[in-house]
Amino acid sequence: MPQHITYTNQVGAALDRVLASTCCLRLFVLTDENTHQLVLPHIDSKALHQATEIIIHAGDEHKTLDALAQVWHALSDDGATRQSVLVNIGGGMVCDLGGFAAATFKRGIRFINIPTTLLSAVDAAVGGKTGINFNGLKNEVGAFAEADEVIISTCFFKSLPPKELRSGYAEVIKHAMLDGHETFGQIIEQAPQQLTLQQLEASVQVKQRIVAQDPHEQGLRRTLNLGHTVGHALESWAFQRSGLAGTSFQGSGIRASMPHGYAVAWGLVAEAVLSHMLLQFPSDDLHRLGTYVRDHYGTPGITCDDYPTLLELMRHDKKSRQGEINCTLLRHIGDPVIDNPITDDDIKTALDILRDYVD
Ligand SMILES: NC(=O)c1ccc[n+]([C@@H]2O[C@H](COP(=O)([O-])OP(=O)(O)OC[C@H]3O[C@@H](n4cnc5c(N)ncnc54)[C@H](O)[C@@H]3O)[C@@H](O)[C@H]2O)c1
Ligand SMILES: [Zn+2]
Repeated sequence: MPQHITYTNQVGAALDRVLASTCCLRLFVLTDENTHQLVLPHIDSKALHQATEIIIHAGDEHKTLDALAQVWHALSDDGATRQSVLVNIGGGMVCDLGGFAAATFKRGIRFINIPTTLLSAVDAAVGGKTGINFNGLKNEVGAFAEADEVIISTCFFKSLPPKELRSGYAEVIKHAMLDGHETFGQIIEQAPQQLTLQQLEASVQVKQRIVAQDPHEQGLRRTLNLGHTVGHALESWAFQRSGLAGTSFQGSGIRASMPHGYAVAWGLVAEAVLSHMLLQFPSDDLHRLGTYVRDHYGTPGITCDDYPTLLELMRHDKKSRQGEINCTLLRHIGDPVIDNPITDDDIKTALDILRDYVD
C-alpha cells in the first residue's frame, strides 16, 4: 500500500480532517526552534491548539540521542499512550528524529509528518526511513516506520533560505531523471523557486512508486541512490576539510559545510558522465544537466589533489561492497541501472569532466 499523502496549501484544515478520522486521545506536536517560530503560527488547525508542544534544537548536529530522549521524556511525562499521535513539523531532521521517537515509544505510536523544507517534502518525510546520528555516524541508529499521513505543501518554502530550496531541488532533479524526458525537461528549464505543488506531487510520486515496490532496499530502491555515490563522497570531503571530522555529532555543534543537495547536484553530473561513458547516456542530456548545475549550484571547489580522498570515501560508502565502488547509472533519462562497478580511472575522468562543467 503506498503511503497516504495529502498535497494542499490548506495544511491546518487537512490536519484537522485527518485527526477527526483518527482515534487520537492525545496530540503531541514536535518542531525545532525555527519551525516553531516560522511555521507553526501559520498552520491554522483547531487540533494543534490543544496539542502538547515539544521543541528541539534545530540542525542535523542535534539529530542525537539527547534530543531523542527529550522527545521520549516529553511523551512519557505528559501521559502519551498507544492512542496518542505525534505530529512532526519540520525538515528532514525533525521528521527523521520524530518518526524514530514515535516508532519506538511504547513500541510504536502513530505519527504524521508535515515537511517544511523542500528536501524533506520530496525525500525525508516519505518512504519510512527514520533515525538519528550516533557515534559520529549519520543515521547510524533507526527504524523503518511509515508516517500514518504526510501533508505536503509549498507554502512553507516562503521562509526557507534560497540555499535550502536549491538543496532540495537537487532531489527533484534526481526524481525527474529517474522518471522520464518530459519531467526532466520541465524541471531543468525552471528555477527552483518556480516549483509548483503539482510538480512537487509528481516528484514525490516517483519516490513512492519505487519505495512501494522495494520498501527495504533489496534492489529497485537503490535507483534512488543516483548521484549519491559521488555526492556522499563530496559531502564527507567537505566535512573533513571543515576540520570537524573525527569528532562526534553528539553535542559537538557540528554543521555540515556542504548542503546535502548541492553534493547530490554535483554527484548527478559526475554520474551522468559515467552513464555516458559506460552506458551511452545521451550527451545532450548530460550537457543540459551540467549547464543547469553550473548555473544554480556553482562549483564544489575540488582539484585533482582531492581525487585520492574522494575515491577512498566512495570505497567506504555504505552502498559499496568489499571496497568496490558501485553506482546507479542511467542508460537514458527514465532508464536506471543499479549496481554498476566503477574503476578509479573512470571516476577520475568523471570528476575531470564535472569540473569542466562547473569550475
Ligand atoms: N529519511 C529519509 O529518507 C531521508 C532522506 C533525505 C534526508 N534525510 C535527512 O534529512 C535531514 C536533512 O533535511 P533538511 O535539509 O530538511 O534539514 P533540516 O531539517 O535540518 O532543516 C534545515 C534548516 O531549515 C530550517 N527550516 C525548516 N523548515 C523551515 C522553513 N519552512 N522556513 C525556514 N527555515 C526552516 C530548520 O530549522 C533547519 O535549520 C538530514 O538529517 C538527513 O539525514 C532523511
Ligand atoms: Zn539525498
